[in-house]
Amino acid sequence: MVAVAVNDNVFLAGPARRLQRELFAVESSVVSDTAEAIDGAAVLRAYGAVRPMRDKIDLGAARSEARGVAAETWSTAAGPVVELAGALGIAIVFALAWSADGAVDLAATGTVLVALVLMYRPLHGLARAVFGWSSGLASLDRLDELLGLPAEPLEKVTMRTDPVASLRVEDLCFDYDSQPVLRNVGASFHPGELVAITGPSGAGKSTLLGVLAGVLPPATGRMVIDGAPATRALLIEATAWMPQNPTLFRDTILRNVAFGADHPERARVVEVCRRVHAHDFIAERPGGYDAVLQEGGTDLSMGQRQRITLARALYWGAPVMLLDEPTSALDDEQERNVIGVCRAHADLGGLVIVATHREDFLRHADRVLELRDGTLIEWERQTADVLLH
Ligand SMILES: Nc1ncnc2c1ncn2[C@@H]1O[C@H](COP(=O)(O)OP(=O)(O)OP(=O)(O)O)[C@@H](O)[C@H]1O
Ligand SMILES: [Mg+2]
Repeated sequence: MVAVAVNDNVFLAGPARRLQRELFAVESSVVSDTAEAIDGAAVLRAYGAVRPMRDKIDLGAARSEARGVAAETWSTAAGPVVELAGALGIAIVFALAWSADGAVDLAATGTVLVALVLMYRPLHGLARAVFGWSSGLASLDRLDELLGLPAEPLEKVTMRTDPVASLRVEDLCFDYDSQPVLRNVGASFHPGELVAITGPSGAGKSTLLGVLAGVLPPATGRMVIDGAPATRALLIEATAWMPQNPTLFRDTILRNVAFGADHPERARVVEVCRRVHAHDFIAERPGGYDAVLQEGGTDLSMGQRQRITLARALYWGAPVMLLDEPTSALDDEQERNVIGVCRAHADLGGLVIVATHREDFLRHADRVLELRDGTLIEWERQTADVLLH
């Protein structure tokens, strides 16, 4: 009888364990994607990739729910068998105690019975809890609320590749929780220019680039592209934004570079990676461009992450490049290469705006704008020469 009960439990436990493992894998993936989506929300917006990410998470949540239901079904089926096995165990203990010397050992039997009763409830509860925790995570299909998506452009954006004739910022104000960062900022940018924005730490350089990229809505003021007021969608289409903190996703290097593309163009990915000197270290990694990065790209050095996110900015061929401290983790030689990449983009009629402290970059820029006390001041060429030499 014991053998039958044990066999029944093993028979039931096998599929239950498999379902449990699958459930855990799917749920881990959904949780991880969700965390990445929250961390990388700005980059998802900047590259029009909110919808694909949401679809991926929705799919994971649906799979998780299906596995959860299957696991629950097994759990329900297993319950009566476990209870039956428990009852059989008690009966066996009774029988053995009775037959040892023909008399019932009441003390021993009582102890075993109490132990069985005490253990049964917690174990049963634990099994139910493990089977049931999926239902909480399945509610991740409420991701819209989590990401605050209604305010975001969900439709796929079509990246622009033709040059802009001009980009102007007028009376721009931005504050974080009523703490002013940008105050009536005004500036004009033109194709063919490499413009550096410098200024003390905390001055608002990253904030300004985020506004220009269409990922931070200004409190007041406006951006004007080619003489017409620019909506956030127009800014997203015209710009390629490389944030200060390189944001990489748990996906292949190929898809991280061709970010937001339904069908990544491998040749184009390799070409832009060669331009930023990322090709060699990518090709040397097992799996090359098809290797899946760890969450946040933590299996790459900071300088490697920067080069991959710069390649991403180049991939779409957007006319305006907004690069936030793109060389802060690079050595001098790599920095010179990045400056060359920026110069080439400008020489081909593009516009490059770089937030940087690095002197080499400031020296090679056509113009240097300093952000101080919330406003932009343009350095006279002479000032630049005195400060940089
Ligand atoms: N998400 C945020 N919430 C609240 N305040 C913020 C946030 N991001 C930045 N700030 C504040 O806004 C100001 C400008 O920050 P920003 O990152 O734009 O400066 P920065 O010039 O890029 O600095 P750094 O040179 O250190 O990169 C700082 O005072 C900063 O503390
Ligand atoms: Mg910054």
